Amino acid sequence: MSPTSLLIKNGTIVTENKVETKDILIIGEQIETIEEKINYNADTIVDAKECYIFPGGIDPHTHMELPVMGTISSDSFKSGTLAALFGGTTTIIDFANQLRGEHLIDALNNWHNKAKNNCYTDYSFHISVTDVQEETLEEIKKMVKDQGVSSFKTFMAYNTMKIGPWEMEALMGIVKQYGGKVLVHAEDGEMINDLIKNYSKNKNKQKVVNHPLCHPPETESLATKNAIKISEKKDCPLYIVHVSCKKAISEIVEAQKQKLPILGETCIQYLLLDESLYHHKKFIEAAKYVLSPPLRKQEDREALWTAIQNGTIEVVATDHCPFLLKQKQAGENDFTKIPNGIPGVEYRLELLFSEGVIKRGMSLNQFVKLTSYNAAKIFGLFPKKGTIQAKSDADLVIFDPNKKHVISSKTHHMNCDYSPYEGMNLIGKCRTVILRGKIAIDHENILINEGYGQYLYRTT
Ligand code: URP
Ligand code: ZN
Ligand code: ZN
Repeated sequence: MSPTSLLIKNGTIVTENKVETKDILIIGEQIETIEEKINYNADTIVDAKECYIFPGGIDPHTHMELPVMGTISSDSFKSGTLAALFGGTTTIIDFANQLRGEHLIDALNNWHNKAKNNCYTDYSFHISVTDVQEETLEEIKKMVKDQGVSSFKTFMAYNTMKIGPWEMEALMGIVKQYGGKVLVHAEDGEMINDLIKNYSKNKNKQKVVNHPLCHPPETESLATKNAIKISEKKDCPLYIVHVSCKKAISEIVEAQKQKLPILGETCIQYLLLDESLYHHKKFIEAAKYVLSPPLRKQEDREALWTAIQNGTIEVVATDHCPFLLKQKQAGENDFTKIPNGIPGVEYRLELLFSEGVIKRGMSLNQFVKLTSYNAAKIFGLFPKKGTIQAKSDADLVIFDPNKKHVISSKTHHMNCDYSPYEGMNLIGKCRTVILRGKIAIDHENILINEGYGQYLYRTT
């Protein structure tokens, strides 16, 4: 049987460096050719007039089914990747979490078992390394060479997951040797623990606003500085996840000036929401926004917008880690027990388009770099993913830039009974989403089954 063909006509194709109105012919799973006018008797022809065509979004920071703080994030790989697809994200990179004492291969297989046959998007894994033993270091080579995992996350906070500076150094030494990258959750765990001790006295335990007070920007900038020092010593590329504040950005700017291999990621929530949300009188309204690092001040948001515009920060991800309101309720009497994380995987592209491109004049090319291209380059998926060119996977978003819509948890697809962006008016919506040559979403209808999403082996 010959592979199916799909012809997309009249769309304005946007890549990292081009904006051009051309036709795209897809044969099977890949783009065959892109030309001014293509006359081809394709099985399916789609008219994309007055729409942009973006590379499918890549969200390199999600947590589906993550056991955390005695509970599990509420999106499964099935519900979470379905939601991602509706929002134009065709690839996620999730974090396989090593339990202390566990082999990396077992952690990875555990995540494979959760994702296999369940995903609507393509997917890959980073490994969160929480226990650096001799065997762990020996396993890194196999992860990179045989398992397609070239990035390893470390935590400097969270008592059950953080590693110390010597362990970080050992890990960076070996990851560098095999051409991988280390990711870091940069918050200083000791400082946070001390602050928690202080703020946990008496009735203060019930106040959600203590969460940001225990995670001030200094905890983030200090950890960022320390992680950069180790990366410099080991000459290991370091990707700093969920950068949230001006002080941490300054550390990254300094490092980049010295040509150190430091990459930054922020998440859509830090660009759009701020810490005033923690002051809500009702516990649950404030608890909805508890994540680490916490939401920051308006000036931090502005600094982040500048950093994504000027290239200091190269990726806008989500750190999608949703919890139902009843799960958040666990911290009613103790703010330290509120599970950390918020949903976002469905709205990243539409939020960034509406708030960035429409409201702040971000260029379309920059939008593509931040939502797919840079992540594909950094995490070893390029040119299969992250661009629109012949021989690349046909992962495409046909995007209507004029369509207005309102965010609501009643209509979203994430398994979360609230939205941090409830009631927000957006301009621009994903109309059709194509994954490896198949129309996966069309005008709100899902046309593929779970399990169509494939595991992606990444290179270094
Ligand atoms: O609060 C957060 N960010 N939860 C998800 C886990 C992490 O730290 O990335
Ligand atoms: Zn983190
Ligand atoms: Zn995370």
